[in-house]
Amino acid sequence: PFIPVIPAGGSGTRLWPLSRQSHPKFLLDLEGNGASLLVNTLERLAPLSSARPIIVTGRAHREAVAAQVGDGAQILSEPSGKNSMPAIAWAAALAEREHPGAIIGSFAADHVIAPKEDFWKGVYSAIAAAELGYLATIGIEPRSASSAFGYIETCPSDAADEDAIALRSAGALNVARFVEKPDAATATEFVRSGRFMWNAGMFVVKARVLLEALDDLHPEISDAARALALEGTGGELSGEGEAIWASLEPIAIDHALAEPLASRGAVAVVPASFAWDDIGDFRALARVARGEKETDGEVGVAGTAKVVSVDSRARVYSNSERPIALVGLDGISVVEAGDVLLVVDEAKAQDVGALVKRLEAEG
Ligand code: GDD
Ligand code: MG
Repeated sequence: PFIPVIPAGGSGTRLWPLSRQSHPKFLLDLEGNGASLLVNTLERLAPLSSARPIIVTGRAHREAVAAQVGDGAQILSEPSGKNSMPAIAWAAALAEREHPGAIIGSFAADHVIAPKEDFWKGVYSAIAAAELGYLATIGIEPRSASSAFGYIETCPSDAADEDAIALRSAGALNVARFVEKPDAATATEFVRSGRFMWNAGMFVVKARVLLEALDDLHPEISDAARALALEGTGGELSGEGEAIWASLEPIAIDHALAEPLASRGAVAVVPASFAWDDIGDFRALARVARGEKETDGEVGVAGTAKVVSVDSRARVYSNSERPIALVGLDGISVVEAGDVLLVVDEAKAQDVGALVKRLEAEG
């Protein structure tokens, strides 16, 4: 069967103070539909699979995740964050153990995608490419020369061998290489060339193919993954499992697997026909925000705070009792959460991550 995997780690520091260590981004209702990004992700994937999805998350978030998803998913909890590769490998080993021959699809918990029907079409094509033995990804037509994403270089082939034809009829293209978060000048060149797509962080592959590739590239990860999948303690690691986990180096799937496999011609990409956004920061959040009550036509408000504004284009996130008054602001987000008030220029929204680092350093 096809088994959805959702690595849900990291707290989304660039959305601080909405997201905190204790309320990571994927647990927040950022689409304004009353459900978290994680729950929306599960719902989007549900019609694709009869098997239970696997969520891999930090131990600290296990309870909150379980409260949101009930028994709609199997939850694996990590003692510490090791980036995406160990998390996905663990899930792959479990999928292979429970359903030999399974194809897994790893999807981030914090993406906004519409319409579902077009998403499903893309995943079906990726599954077809995975059946052929590829690591299949879904690529997004770049909307800008963003440095916030990885880029995928395609190499359309007109080869007439059976494999090439099967891949093309699945609606997929060969991938020449991955370039993770290039600088602005490189990204501009990529977009201009017309050969690049954004990496949407979606990976569809036979679990066995993933594990065997790791046997070759990072055997410590596949060995660990297989050992952890045998633990069978409902996704909580024993002392031995914890020691194995602790021994792993953090690494992202992009570096551990996608880059080296692309240079071997083993990666395929399906061009997406759906709209996609990674709500990485307040600028992206402002872009996808919809459904909240609007005041003044130009100021969007999420929350119950009363907002009065003159000549402003802004977004406000607040449940405060105090009214919020804005005059003459453009492209600003005002965020009130807990005991913090953040005012940020959306053009500089990426820098909130640096701010959080600084606050952490200062204690
Ligand atoms: N369980 C677990 N543990 N999951 C993790 C961890 C971890 O330690 N670290 C990251 N993840 C999950 C994230 O929750 C997300 O679902 C996925 O792995 C990708 O990690 P991000 O940290 O969000 O990566 P990114 O956004 O900087 O970059 C990736 O995604 C972009 C698209 O959103 C890359 O694949 C880029 O190339 C891509 O453009
Ligand atoms: Mg991300």
